[in-house]
Amino acid sequence: MRILYLYTMNILIITGGSKGIGKALAQKYHSENYTVFSIARSELENCSYIQIAADLSNLNAAVNAMCTIFSQIDASTVANITLINNAGTLGTINTLGNLDPENIAQAIQLNTTTPLVLSNEFIRLTKGWKASKQIINISSGAATNPYQGWSVYCTSKAALDMTTKVIAAEQNDIENGVKCTSIYPGVVDTHMQTAIRKTPKTNFKNVQRFIDLKNNNELYAPSFVADSIFTIDTENQLENGAIVDIRKL
Ligand SMILES: NC(=O)c1ccc[n+]([C@@H]2O[C@H](COP(=O)([O-])OP(=O)(O)OC[C@H]3O[C@@H](n4cnc5c(N)ncnc54)[C@H](OP(=O)(O)O)[C@@H]3O)[C@@H](O)[C@H]2O)c1
Repeated sequence: MRILYLYTMNILIITGGSKGIGKALAQKYHSENYTVFSIARSELENCSYIQIAADLSNLNAAVNAMCTIFSQIDASTVANITLINNAGTLGTINTLGNLDPENIAQAIQLNTTTPLVLSNEFIRLTKGWKASKQIINISSGAATNPYQGWSVYCTSKAALDMTTKVIAAEQNDIENGVKCTSIYPGVVDTHMQTAIRKTPKTNFKNVQRFIDLKNNNELYAPSFVADSIFTIDTENQLENGAIVDIRKL
């Protein structure tokens, strides 16, 4: 008797599944029986999902990681596939005039160019698949609020939101195209927030606001953010081209 495995697998590809929001997302999707592939520089010990070590500020490494992942997937088995562009960096926090050019370029590469490149690969490699296909870009309220000291971060996230909108516009016209959304996760208790709180006020005027949020227990837990994003992705709530702020749900 022939065993049929047609269209039963659910797959998550996530960048930065080793820490913070990405780790919580990888754990959530894995607990919901998704096959999870995480791309990050470091690897967790005793990890239940598949880890691919790569520095995503390197273009070739990013493309190779996607090729490695897709070589392990049989399209005829996939019911749902989601790419979450989550890995990100603040870069050096300081005002323009005080930044290292190399650091600017690397942060833009990781936050903006890599999501474009991975989305391009994802769309190309899933072309013609019967599966439901989603791209979720983890953006930030910084995309629309100009914080002094975050020029690179704000710029990179504004560009990421435009990536979302263009993917949605392009894919809308295609039968079973990829759906794409940007998500602002709110202020979340991760390494990134620890780094923000350590910045001297001379480099980041708003630092006290973030210290106060932590002291007042007002940061979201990564697991809360992960649960919210999983619901949006899997319960037919993902509106193509939308920019979703978790704080406003
Ligand atoms: N935390 C917040 O309050 C907040 C608010 C708004 C938006 N966000 C966004 O949420 C996303 C996740 O942030 P987070 O707070 O969870 O930060 P985090 O705790 O610092 O984690 C960042 C993740 O990105 C990965 N990463 C960083 N540089 C990388 C590189 N060059 N190559 C591959 N992977 C890399 C890290 O893995 P390795 O170190 O192992 O490489 C890690 O898994 C980011 O896009 C961030 O902008 C966060």
